[in-house]
Amino acid sequence: MANDTNRFQAIIAHCKEYGFIFPSSEIYDGLSAVYDYGQYGSELKKNIKDYWWKSMTQMHENIVGIDAAIFMHPTTWKASGHIDNFSDPMIDNKESKKRYRVDHLIEGYADELDKQGRKDESVILLAEMDRLLAGNDYHGLKKLIENNNIKCSISGTAMWTDIRQFNLMFSTQIGSVSGEEEANEIYLRPETAQGIFVNFLNVQKTGRLKIPFGIAQVGKAFRNEIVARQFIFRMREFEQMEMQYFIRPGTQKEWYEYWKETRMKWHLSLGIPAEKYRFHDHVKLAHYADAACDIEYDFPIGFKEVEGIHSRTDFDLKNHQQFSKKKMQYFDNEVNQNYIPYVIETSIGLDRTVLMILSEAYNEENLSTDEKTDSRVVLRFPAKLAPIKLAVFPLIKRDGLPEIARNIMNDCKAAFRCFYEEKDAIGKRYRRMDAIGTPFCVTIDHQTKEDNMVTLRYRDTMKQERIPILSIMNTVKDAI
Ligand code: GAP
Repeated sequence: MANDTNRFQAIIAHCKEYGFIFPSSEIYDGLSAVYDYGQYGSELKKNIKDYWWKSMTQMHENIVGIDAAIFMHPTTWKASGHIDNFSDPMIDNKESKKRYRVDHLIEGYADELDKQGRKDESVILLAEMDRLLAGNDYHGLKKLIENNNIKCSISGTAMWTDIRQFNLMFSTQIGSVSGEEEANEIYLRPETAQGIFVNFLNVQKTGRLKIPFGIAQVGKAFRNEIVARQFIFRMREFEQMEMQYFIRPGTQKEWYEYWKETRMKWHLSLGIPAEKYRFHDHVKLAHYADAACDIEYDFPIGFKEVEGIHSRTDFDLKNHQQFSKKKMQYFDNEVNQNYIPYVIETSIGLDRTVLMILSEAYNEENLSTDEKTDSRVVLRFPAKLAPIKLAVFPLIKRDGLPEIARNIMNDCKAAFRCFYEEKDAIGKRYRRMDAIGTPFCVTIDHQTKEDNMVTLRYRDTMKQERIPILSIMNTVKDAI
């Protein structure tokens, strides 16, 4: 098994080789922190999205889904606080001109200390960084960088500028520049949540929803990330799966705990062991939150955030009411009161979840025996998330075997994603399916013509058994 850094690189290479994820516009040397999903990556991503969507909407009678536009009225971002507050403290190296996010620069140095066995120093450094970040003390943060002699990895020098804030939103123009209509600067949304907030009353009234209720959404978000070299972990264009849960003011603590627990259960339902997850409470709260934590997963690059759970108070709705001058209140007939609801948000990155599932599934296995050396790369996806559920292989290309295989394909392909192949030795075909994580393969041989049985081969154990053609469909359906 590769070590962790190598493992991460091996996953990236595997994703490219087997049609999961490619660098965007690769023929032009790619675009930093932007990626395209290939034929298997897009299936995997869609399966994760569907699983989340179903668990939020279908499984909760009081949560409905919407699909709001990426472009929103620019005042949205004034009201949400993103124009004034959605920025990160950055520092530039004067020699290399490379810009770093201050916390990432210090964390990188802390990782180095860890590797050198100086764990105590790294813990103290990170605690001090958290304290200074919480107080917005940029002078103190610069001193911390200088006192620890933290250097730029490119120039190797510690010649730093002062720390400054940089807004992470991308902007573009809407309307005609030269015509009568004035050009307006608008933003590519940095979170999907605001599309939910501005539609809060539309959905509540048309759906006759009573508090507590939730609105869920999956969609693209855009951030001009500075640190952009962690594959699909940190992208400039990515997808979020967010849910805003509208509640009575004063009940936010209990609902915050409820959603922490519910979301962790969802993560565990992916078959990932509990020790690979942890909660991380935010020290420095976002401008909208009165409590917040992350669910972190132990990626090959260490424990990192996959999902955020935020108690957003009435910050967003109150500000939209103020900026739009439209009432954002709800009449609660149980307590006979008008109020602006409080909100608990669950926000999970779809691409990060793809990376988590890939990291968990990726296995390099040594299958050597006394007689021969052998190995395989297998993606042990949960069957419900696997891009292809069933591969159908005629053992050879003649004697009526392809016809039987085609009939099986025709019976099954409407129920789940199947894959047909008749080229190469059967062992090679199995290995290719292991590499893309297909949980089941069936092989049709001459015996099939006699007894209507096929060989079912399991991805994880590589065990094979004879089963009737008629039970293929249910075997796969049971697993997914
Ligand atoms: N609406 C709240 C919000 O956007 P966030 O913690 O900034 O909160 C939520 O983002 C989730 O979106 C994160 O937990 C992460 O999974 C994902 N995410 C954020 N920035 C990302 C990026 N640059 N690339 C990929 N995923 C990202």
